Amino acid sequence: MPRKPFPPTRPDCISVEAPLLQPVNGGAAPYEPGRVMGFTIAHITDPHLSPAPLPGLADFRLKRFMGYVNWKRGRERLNDMALLARLVEDLRAQRPDHVAVTGDLVNIGMPAEFRRAAAWMETLGDPADVSFVPGNHDAYVRAAMPMLKATFAPWTTGDSGASAFPYVRVRRDIAIIGLTSGLPTGPLMATGKLGRTQLERFATLLDETGARGLARVVLIHHPPLARSAPPLRGLTDAAAFEHVLRQHGAEAILHGHTHRQLFRSLASRATKTVGGRVPVLGAPSAAAATRDPRYRAAYHLVRLERDGERWRVSARARGLALDSEAIGEREALAV
Ligand SMILES: [Fe+2]
Ligand SMILES: [Fe+2]
Repeated sequence: MPRKPFPPTRPDCISVEAPLLQPVNGGAAPYEPGRVMGFTIAHITDPHLSPAPLPGLADFRLKRFMGYVNWKRGRERLNDMALLARLVEDLRAQRPDHVAVTGDLVNIGMPAEFRRAAAWMETLGDPADVSFVPGNHDAYVRAAMPMLKATFAPWTTGDSGASAFPYVRVRRDIAIIGLTSGLPTGPLMATGKLGRTQLERFATLLDETGARGLARVVLIHHPPLARSAPPLRGLTDAAAFEHVLRQHGAEAILHGHTHRQLFRSLASRATKTVGGRVPVLGAPSAAAATRDPRYRAAYHLVRLERDGERWRVSARARGLALDSEAIGEREALAV
């Protein structure tokens, strides 16, 4: 079910709703498969693999039961697994250099859901070329946390060999930095938090990878800028995240959670994008068979191209056509 519109953004943030594309960085060349220069990341998020299983007595938690009821009332009709399979097929045909998955693969944190999530992740490619960060549904209840860590280790293991957040995976001259914002909360809450320790390590990693001349692409489930989500659904330490971003810079932020296409950007003296702003790109749910164009299933292709000491960032969407059930290019590049 479509959610309420987000509140207005502050003057130092540019906000653009769908159609997303070609926002702030001066415009990169259109994506051409097989081009040697540049790096393309396919960003897919919030598939909410279905159906949600009915929790038995052994796995019963109030939040799980309420989540199951909510799923039956809403997402059961909206989530189309055949559509998701077609979207993944299309994504793989684009042959991206890397795939970023920004969470919410499960619904209520049941063991069977994690097994299904691992099988789905396998369909995206070699785990070395696929990175994952968890969403609030993946960290639905405390009992799910060990399953979350074990299930997604192949896709959250950094170059250090450790599966811990934040992780860094350097692929060519791109540093993919994964953050976790998913944590167990009370019923009817979908908030996220990074925490001071993770933010401090994040800042250090931004400095280290930036000093190596790498483009820093950050993956996070919750939209990380302040006032990006309604109350009880947002990142509680978004202001601290923004501060780190302004001070230390990044070249792109990819997020999910909102289930709709959303583009914002943040000014940063430390970013190495051509426009001096960090694009913050949110993709819709990859399984949403809704007519609303803002929420209709899609994934993004985010491209980074070196321009001297700086980076040009562009993005485009592929997904369910707005006037048919076909999957293809969703919006023309507005270069
Ligand atoms: Fe979600
Ligand atoms: Fe979420």
